[in-house]
Amino acid sequence: MKIAVFGTGYVGLVTAVGLAEFGHRVVGADKDTDKIRMISSGKAPIFEPGLEALLAKNLKSGRLEFSDDLGRAVRESDVIFVCVGTPPHDDGGADMSQIEEVSRLIAGSLNGYKVVVEKSTVPVKTSSWIKRTISLYRKSDTPFDVASNPEFLREGSAVGDFLNPDRIIIGVESERARDMLVRIYDNLKERILITNIDTAELIKHASNSFLALKISYINLIADLCEKTEADVELVARGMGLDPRIGGLFLRAGLGYGGSCFPKDVKALTRIGEDLGVDMRLLREGERINAERVRVFINKVKQSLWILKDKTIGILGLSFKPETDDIREAPSIKVISCLLAEGARLRLYDPQAMGHMKEMFPGDGERVAYCTSPVEAAQGANALLLVTEWDEFKEIDLKKIKQVMANPILIDGRNMFDPPAVRALGFEYSCLGRK
Ligand code: UGA
Repeated sequence: MKIAVFGTGYVGLVTAVGLAEFGHRVVGADKDTDKIRMISSGKAPIFEPGLEALLAKNLKSGRLEFSDDLGRAVRESDVIFVCVGTPPHDDGGADMSQIEEVSRLIAGSLNGYKVVVEKSTVPVKTSSWIKRTISLYRKSDTPFDVASNPEFLREGSAVGDFLNPDRIIIGVESERARDMLVRIYDNLKERILITNIDTAELIKHASNSFLALKISYINLIADLCEKTEADVELVARGMGLDPRIGGLFLRAGLGYGGSCFPKDVKALTRIGEDLGVDMRLLREGERINAERVRVFINKVKQSLWILKDKTIGILGLSFKPETDDIREAPSIKVISCLLAEGARLRLYDPQAMGHMKEMFPGDGERVAYCTSPVEAAQGANALLLVTEWDEFKEIDLKKIKQVMANPILIDGRNMFDPPAVRALGFEYSCLGRK
């Protein structure tokens, strides 16, 4: 079986590399010629642990190639995975124009039976639109099927998530398509759940929105802990011991960001409301998440009172550790708020500074980019932990304290151990625990 993967963003690139690693012949297709050239030379355009090594290995094996000849990719493949972006519109709905464009392109080059698989996160019912579009624009009656196989990989652990997933959801409406998709995941057969297409599409949106709600829920409990002697970390641990709840995604802090949760919660809310379902539960989760930065900035103000002309160091800019991605990162709102109050910022992140410079260019005056956590702390009136990179767990806090103007540490991810940090002489605050 020959597979084409359309789109070479996060999901597309990892899918192409992962399917080649499973032993399939794969062509990754994208209209961005520069990107194709870069990836073909073995360089990944994103930072993702393990991806470049696996890309190089599979390019070398000859099973994997990349091309900007989209028509050829369609003609030479039996299965086409659609992994193009579905960014949000201003009203929260997903912009499906790239999916439509690829559907028309597939229609124009359809030269035999193929299965067109949605892998991008799409609203329920998208498959009917893809089907209609291909039927409208194909030149003959060549048969095809549409299927849904949502991707659940997380940035930062994308390669491992793809190669060793918890579940593989396959939404189909024909046996022929089902058999072809099951063959692709032959090595993971026991993890496959076959459903109809609407169900598969909804499983993806429902999963992401549920996880986002779980985070908002623990952040609500963190606010409650603030007003009592309870400790949110221990509340979460105690809750998580119940297997019906589970301990994951109960880390309180600055809330969720990234290219998925914020967008998917909005999109599912929109889909539900369009279909006449009351989606206020999701709206409330979103509101709680949006409040997190304000709660955090209040902590900063409680420590520094006036922020104008104060020097503030920030550790961590990416929306989560192990990625250079800053899309919807809480750090962006934190930086904007602090700059609006007139603070001077010293920023450090192990991977994400390049992207952040595009949004907030360093002028050495109001915004300075630093080469280490110690440099970010230099002369600072307070140091803020915004993203919990492992690297920060190892930092030399004694040295940090020496270089700071005031030893004030405000932890937006509850990463540090309060007694240990206070024993070093820091004034320390965090979220939902003392
Ligand atoms: C998420 C899902 O976890 C993946 O399963 C899904 O495939 C992906 O979206 C997608 O739809 O493509 P991702 O956005 O990469 O993956 O990152 P997560 O690890 O889920 O974290 C999302 C956000 O939640 C981050 O900002 C993180 O800091 C925050 N978070 C996570 C918390 O605030 N608390 C937690 O306990 C866990």
